[in-house]
Amino acid sequence: MSFVWRVCAGLALILGTSLACAEAVNPRIQQVMSSPDALQKAQHDGKKAAAFCANCHGNTGNSTYDYIPNLAGQHPGYLFNQIKKFADGRRQDRFMSGLIKAMKDEDRFNMAIYYANQRVQAARPPEPDLVARGRQLYSQECKSCHGEKGYGGENIARLAGQRPGYLVGALGKYQNGIKRRADPVMSSVARRLQVSDIAALANYIVTMK
Ligand code: HEC
Ligand code: HEC
Repeated sequence: MSFVWRVCAGLALILGTSLACAEAVNPRIQQVMSSPDALQKAQHDGKKAAAFCANCHGNTGNSTYDYIPNLAGQHPGYLFNQIKKFADGRRQDRFMSGLIKAMKDEDRFNMAIYYANQRVQAARPPEPDLVARGRQLYSQECKSCHGEKGYGGENIARLAGQRPGYLVGALGKYQNGIKRRADPVMSSVARRLQVSDIAALANYIVTMK
């Protein structure tokens, strides 16, 4: 069983099912992830197709800039869905939108499989004093959906180890409810947060492994 699916099964246990793995997983993803040969081929092709992406997201999906998200360790279903959102305009970004539109569906799929199977590198919080408050807030406000360890699932982003600058930016977009990234669930969560809460959460989340 791959890393992702072990995490998935673990999450379902912790949460008493309901999340991620209990949902119907994209059947093609499930098929590829359960066949070592198909998985190896998808990863190989995905890495090749992602050569340009590495400029920003890093060779192994560990981003090279604070405002750009890590892709490593995300559920492949989540990655594939976000790629589809960029392609059809539900999510918009000046870098990503054009890049994704120019890409074949097969490459999009393989890239999602490749990044999902990479490991997130440990990182330090920029303001360690805020970590304790962030942990408490995470447990109250985020754990129920993103999971105890922040691994997310098919429809919910992995947060563990995510870049602080990107997290702050994403939460700001949800708060504003702007068309570039609209999600009713995350918007209602984000609107309950103060600026200081977001800073604390970002400092804790980057320490989660
Ligand atoms: C010029 C820099 C740049 C390049 C090159 C780039 N990205 Fe991105 N990517 C970004 C930024 C910035 C975001 C965050 C956009 C936002 O805030 O919505 C992003 C977001 C994403 C996301 C959403 C992640 C999440 O956590 O929701 C995916 C998936 C993604 N990129 C895949 C790719 C793929 C695949 C490629 C190669 C075809 C690529 N990116 C190339 C800058 C880049
Ligand atoms: C009710 C369920 C729910 C709760 C509670 C929740 N989230 Fe989310 N979160 C989601 C879903 C669903 C998505 C994917 C939304 C999308 O596709 O844009 C998401 C996405 C995100 C993203 C985007 C990540 C990325 O890679 O782009 C961030 C950041 C985030 N959540 C942070 C938080 C934080 C911090 C908390 C606690 C304060 C929280 N969430 C609580 C469901 C939830």
